[in-house]
Amino acid sequence: MQFIQWDQSLSIHIEEIDNQHRNLIEIINILHATAKATDRHMICSEIVVKLKNYFNEHFMTEEKYMIQYDYPETGAHKKEHVEFIKNVLDFETACFVSYAPYTPMLDFLKEWLGKHVQDTDMKMGVFLKEKLRIE
Ligand SMILES: [Fe+2]
Repeated sequence: MQFIQWDQSLSIHIEEIDNQHRNLIEIINILHATAKATDRHMICSEIVVKLKNYFNEHFMTEEKYMIQYDYPETGAHKKEHVEFIKNVLDFETACFVSYAPYTPMLDFLKEWLGKHVQDTDMKMGVFLKEKLRIE
């Protein structure tokens, strides 16, 4: 059984974005599965690389839609993305410099799913779905 399972409560009903969110869940599950691993530094760096690839592609997709459809919450939404990037870069530094922040990373990503994906992204999804339906 996976640590986090995809379910409808995570869907914002835009397939391209849902598929990217599925990738994030996969990364969280990989991280969770390494709880007892000994080479934490190596794993930490690998997870950071995956998260960087993830946000590069995913935030660009969301922000492209928000700008294209003139989403009124674009500024606030993008600020949350900037915070995510900052956190990942801080984790990257921690991985290299001092320790492998397994628990902080896992807690941060779980919180991100609840606060950003299931709230901020969900609101954006409702708005975009309407626009895409009209188009
Ligand atoms: Fe987002």
